[in-house]
Amino acid sequence: MVIKKPQSASERIILALDVDTLEEARELVVQLKDYVGYFKVGLQLYTACGYDAVRMIHEMGSKVFFDAKFHDIPNTVARASANLVKNDVDFFDLHIKGGSKMLSTTCRLCREVAKKYNKPQPTILGVTLLSSFGQKTLNQELNVNMNIDEYVSRLAKVALEAKLDGVVASASEVGAIRRVCGDDFIIVCPAIRPTWSVVDDQVRVVTPTDAIEAGVDYMVVGRPVIFAKDRIEAITLIIDEIEEAKEIIKERL
Ligand code: C5P
Repeated sequence: MVIKKPQSASERIILALDVDTLEEARELVVQLKDYVGYFKVGLQLYTACGYDAVRMIHEMGSKVFFDAKFHDIPNTVARASANLVKNDVDFFDLHIKGGSKMLSTTCRLCREVAKKYNKPQPTILGVTLLSSFGQKTLNQELNVNMNIDEYVSRLAKVALEAKLDGVVASASEVGAIRRVCGDDFIIVCPAIRPTWSVVDDQVRVVTPTDAIEAGVDYMVVGRPVIFAKDRIEAITLIIDEIEEAKEIIKERL
């Protein structure tokens, strides 16, 4: 298992390239590559321009989080994930609900493929519960009679046991996840909303300060930066907020 904890405030930020064209994505990468650690290629961009997006990000010297949240039978997910490794993807994710066999088969194959093709070992993350779900939809639509913290930490344990590197979860579940999975486990948190931004369709949102306080390693930010009038100003505000939160925590110790 390769542990990749972020070293700086910028490195903690994963910018979601949720746009429809390679040109728009390139513009964002050119503008923001010195301010963020990773660019996230998700379903929207991948279905528009495929691996060209991944290649473009690498050509600019940045790293890629491929966020397709795979969920299928073990063989299909493992082979699709191995293709990501062959294409130099740095981080990618799978739904933990795909089951421990899907997770462990994928981890095993990806690590073998990375060795065989002399590629860096990828960071493999498990998606717990989407941040667009709340307690009510978990109970009433997914028919899970548990509170979110317990449900998410149980899923995180399945991910840990299957030898994933970490999980994608909301900041409010970090305490419960750390208790079960420890400090080395990577926690990536989407639905980051600085106080000056709008919530959009996310439900379990947190500010960058809350995320750092909770012990999140990486945070995914999309619309608050992509649609900001001044993107550099927006990302700089987020970086400053992360640094301030880290300082406050240090002073408390
Ligand atoms: O625009 P916004 O900041 O809400 O972007 C959030 C990004 O994080 C989207 O690309 C979404 O697919 C992704 N994501 C999420 N919830 C998860 C995992 C990923 O919102 N649990």
